[in-house]
Amino acid sequence: MRIDIITIFPEICLAPLRESIIGRAQETGRVNLRAHDLRDWTHDRHRQVDDLPYGGGPGMVMKPEPFFEAVEALRTPEARVILLTPQGRRFDQAEARRLSAESHLILLCGHYEGIDHRVVEALVDEELSIGDYVLTNGTLAAAVIVDAVVRLLPGVLGDERSAEEESFAAPGVLEGPHYTRPAEFRGMKVPDVLLSGHHARIEAWRRERGLERTRENRPDLQD
Ligand code: ADE
Repeated sequence: MRIDIITIFPEICLAPLRESIIGRAQETGRVNLRAHDLRDWTHDRHRQVDDLPYGGGPGMVMKPEPFFEAVEALRTPEARVILLTPQGRRFDQAEARRLSAESHLILLCGHYEGIDHRVVEALVDEELSIGDYVLTNGTLAAAVIVDAVVRLLPGVLGDERSAEEESFAAPGVLEGPHYTRPAEFRGMKVPDVLLSGHHARIEAWRRERGLERTRENRPDLQD
């Protein structure tokens, strides 16, 4: 998969994706990830990417020209162009799975108060939000989406089962709790069933505790 991120802060999204699993996915060529500085597609001395809003109001609006030039330079026939914005449809695990089947994503990161709407109308295939809160810009949101999508690509996770068994793979139920050694720590014991070697009972226990955690932390998932 190829992913191009267009942002005024390339380092903000690249830094967290350089480590660990996503870093290795890049090294082994499972993903070709690049972050581009939007200002590279400006032509004035100040490399300006924003301007005053028509109609007045607070803040600045991102100019259309650099986004158009950037997308036109990077686009391939298969590219899916996505704008990160708090006004987008909410990203979740199902969206991550859907995007992991694409071959080329171009992620546009908004900043300031907004982005000239001609970008949305003429360039963008879809708008995504990572949650109902407002970040200072879309760059961290792009990093979140890349992480969630790339770990689903074939060969990226060491143990393929972990992508299947995790929370949200089964809609509406969270994962049960996990334990590792020592079997007793500061008086707290690992549940006996996990030491029993009885796989069917362990499975049933995990399912039950997963449901319990769902009722406690995410009752909305069971509605
Ligand atoms: N930009 C600012 N806030 C955002 C959010 N919640 N999701 C995606 N992009 C954003």
